[in-house]
Amino acid sequence: MRQERTRVAVVGAGPAGLVLAMLLAREGIDAVVVDHRTREEIEGTVRAGILEQGTVELLDACGAGARIGVDGARHDGIGLRVDGTTHRVDLRGHTGRSVWLYPQHEVLTDLLAWHRDHHTDLRLGVSGATVAETGADGAVVTFTGADGVPVELACEALAGCDGSRSVVRGAIPDRMRTDHFRALPFAWFGVLLDAPPSAKELVYASSERGFALISSRTPTVQRMYFQCDPAESTSDWSDARILDELQARVAGADGFALVEGPVLTRDVIPMRSYVCEPMRHRRVFLAGDAAHTVPPTGAKGLNLAVADVVLLAGALTDLLVHRRDEAVDRYAADAARRVWRTQQFSYHLTTTLHPEPGADPFDERRRRAAVEHLVTSQRAAAELAEGYVGWPLPGAGCSGTTR
Ligand code: DHB
Repeated sequence: MRQERTRVAVVGAGPAGLVLAMLLAREGIDAVVVDHRTREEIEGTVRAGILEQGTVELLDACGAGARIGVDGARHDGIGLRVDGTTHRVDLRGHTGRSVWLYPQHEVLTDLLAWHRDHHTDLRLGVSGATVAETGADGAVVTFTGADGVPVELACEALAGCDGSRSVVRGAIPDRMRTDHFRALPFAWFGVLLDAPPSAKELVYASSERGFALISSRTPTVQRMYFQCDPAESTSDWSDARILDELQARVAGADGFALVEGPVLTRDVIPMRSYVCEPMRHRRVFLAGDAAHTVPPTGAKGLNLAVADVVLLAGALTDLLVHRRDEAVDRYAADAARRVWRTQQFSYHLTTTLHPEPGADPFDERRRRAAVEHLVTSQRAAAELAEGYVGWPLPGAGCSGTTR
C-alpha cells in the first residue's frame, strides 16, 4: 500500500467531482480526484444537454466555458406543445435569463481539459475505491491506481461525487440515513437521429398518446424522447415505428412534423426521484447524483450537481483555509433546500406532462387542467420559466449576467 495524503479526496470525475476540484484548486486547496472510468469513458457518457445560465456563468468565471459560446446555443424559450398546438414559454421575457443547449459530454471534455491545463491530480481508471475510515478530522480512501499500485489516501474531507451507485454514500451509517425514493410509472424511449433540427427551440409535447421531447445535439444529430413503459424493450422498435410514434405525439392542425432520418442509437431511460439525507456524515460529503436523482424532464441533474458543489466548495474553503466549521455544519441543510425545490420542480413538470397509464379519471382530468393552466396563464408560465432557467447559485463567481 502506498500511503498518500491530500486535503480533499473526491470520488467521481463527473460534473460534480470535476467542478468541485476546479473550485477547490482556485482556492489553492489540494485535492485528488479518483474515478474507475478512463478519460474516454467519461467523455463518452451521453446525458442531457441543458445548462442553466448560472451553470454557464460559473464555468465562464472559472475559464472552462469558452466553448459553450461557440458550440452551444442560447435558448431564450421553450415550446410546450399540447394536443398539437405549440405555446411558447418566453424564458428570457419572464426571467431575464436563458439556458444553453450544450451536451454534458462536452462539459466533461472542457472540464478535463481545464484540469489538464491546471495540472491538478486526477487518477482515472482506478479500481476498487472504498471508504476505509471516517473520523472527526478526516477520512481514508483506498483504491488501486491504473498502474496497479494499491493506494491508501488520507484526507481532511471526502467528497462523494460518484453518481447514483455511489460507494461513498455507504459511509453514512444506515441508522443515520434516510433514502427517499419514488419510482415513476413511466420511462423515456430516447433516440439520436441523423437529421437536421425540426425546431429552433426545444419542444415539450404532451398529448393523449403521451409525452415527447424534441431536443438537439448538433446541426446534424437530434435527440428525441417519447414516454414509454419502463419495461419497454428497444428491440421491439423498428426505425419506422419509432418515427411514427414521435410524429404522432407532435402532430397537430398546424402541420408541424419532425424531419426524419436514420435512428443512430436507442435507449430506455427509467424515471425515479431519490434523495439521500443527510448529505454529510462527519467529514464525508455527498454531492450530485450520489445524493439525489431527479426525473429527466427539465434537465436538472447536472445543474443541481453544480449547485451542490458550489456550496460544498465554499464550505470546505471556510473549513480548510479559514478554520471555520459553521458552513460545513450547514452544508447538508443548505444543499437539501435546493435539492427538494428541484425535486419538486422536476417531479411536478414530469407528472404534469405525462399521462399516467391506468390513472384514475379524476386524477387524469386534474392533470389535464394543470396542463391547460400552464399554457393559458402567464403567471404559471413565469413560474415554470423561473424554475427552468434555475434559481441563482450561492455566491462565488456567478453573480450578474455575463451573457
Ligand atoms: C434534454 C433532456 C432533457 O431531459 C430536457 O429536459 C431537455 C433536453 C436533452 O437530452 O437534450
